[in-house]
Amino acid sequence: MKVASHHLRCTECGAVITGDAVNSIFRCPQCNGLYDVIYPWSESVARPAAGPEHNLPNPSALRWLWQERRTSMLPVDQSGVWRFRDLLPIVSAPEKVVTLREGNTPLYDLPRCAKAAGVDWLLAKHQGMNPTGSFKDTGMTAALSVAADRGFEWVACASTGNTSAAMAAYAARAGLRSIVFIPEGKIAWGKLSQSMDYGALTIQLKTDFDGCVRILTELVTRFPIYLLNSVNPYRLEGQKTPAFEMMEQLDWQVPDHIIVPGGNLANSSALGKGFMEMRHLGMIPRAPKVSVIQAEGANPLYRWYTDSNRLMRPVTAETRATAIRIGNPASWRKAANVIDALGGWCEQVSEQEIALAKAQIGAEGVGCEPASAVTYAGLKKLVALGKVQREERTVLILTGHTLKDSNYTIDYHRGELLTEAENAQISAADQALHASLRKPPVVLDPDTDTVMRRLESHMKQAQPA
Ligand code: F0G
Repeated sequence: MKVASHHLRCTECGAVITGDAVNSIFRCPQCNGLYDVIYPWSESVARPAAGPEHNLPNPSALRWLWQERRTSMLPVDQSGVWRFRDLLPIVSAPEKVVTLREGNTPLYDLPRCAKAAGVDWLLAKHQGMNPTGSFKDTGMTAALSVAADRGFEWVACASTGNTSAAMAAYAARAGLRSIVFIPEGKIAWGKLSQSMDYGALTIQLKTDFDGCVRILTELVTRFPIYLLNSVNPYRLEGQKTPAFEMMEQLDWQVPDHIIVPGGNLANSSALGKGFMEMRHLGMIPRAPKVSVIQAEGANPLYRWYTDSNRLMRPVTAETRATAIRIGNPASWRKAANVIDALGGWCEQVSEQEIALAKAQIGAEGVGCEPASAVTYAGLKKLVALGKVQREERTVLILTGHTLKDSNYTIDYHRGELLTEAENAQISAADQALHASLRKPPVVLDPDTDTVMRRLESHMKQAQPA
């Protein structure tokens, strides 16, 4: 890794600064735009006229090196983020890296979900299989390593729960002190427990996620606290690496379509950046489409796409998928650029569709948190709209582990998740699917005959297709 091997470029006005010149809110002082990390080899960076390719990393050498590192015992090599460090040289030395061996997440096939959606091929990249149970670890190892490298003592984030869990864990590993701002009563308990377990100062604000962001943005201008929300462009450098890892896992055969949940809209931006960088470097011949799916009650990007004036209007967000209960997404412009550049869509899905999709993924033995299930619900919608064809090869990005929000799952199976009014809107076909998927716990007397009778009646029931 080399020092000063990158710059930051404003995604709005194009101003370029050095990494250490950035202000505490990671916004361009001229136009308030967010930054992207750029490298001497980035697509937009002019190279000397003579030998224009001389400073481009060599694709075959990189592939070989990344594969080779899999056999190493070094923590930076074992990390599924830092194994790709040649394309994210953002810390001054490998020893500065703070890692929990994140990444290295599985790619599962979902044959029953594929069949039910009307496609031949469907995979899920399960980012919930990261050390703290969400995709946030890949971004946090990157940005927190930069914070440690730059000598910060305090780090902070506003969060719907997963960012805070990841930040608290990585800060603890690095011996930094962390402060978490979460909307009171609006995050899943599993996530709240993590930030306490990892020793963060956890502040529950009586507001929503967007309110937490507002307060924290003011605080970091007054105290030397390093901001670890996804406006921090180094987060996205870590979060682009699952794109590299996915391509290795697919033996460099590019899928047609990647589907990502949309909240603050950084993850879709990061994965798109990863694919575009690989395409630019000649590692892949083309990039997949990237589609973003939002919950109907937290759908500002969807609205922007359907608004004839193309105005971004923040919404008051409401969804049981608490991870994506975000009404004013910071990275919406970056995400829209990715969707437009790669040719995907932005869709919205209802609470009923999210619940069904989550149960269907769970029934494949994979499981995920509600915010992740919007991807499958969105795929079904895109197929129904004729936007995705049967033979297209899609990868869903499952962002969080099912245990993050077990209350949601229990409520669903007990039939207590949706209101009567919501249930009444479900089609007969979907009602039947719900009925076959719901597995509420059965309470019986401790008597063998009673248990036998229950088992016999259970065995006669049809299994979901
Ligand atoms: N899925 C999960 C499980 C999440 O936790 C989040 C975001 C998203 C999807 C959306 O990703 O914001 O990059 O579009 N969670 C953040 C948090 C906001 O604070 O944990 P995004």
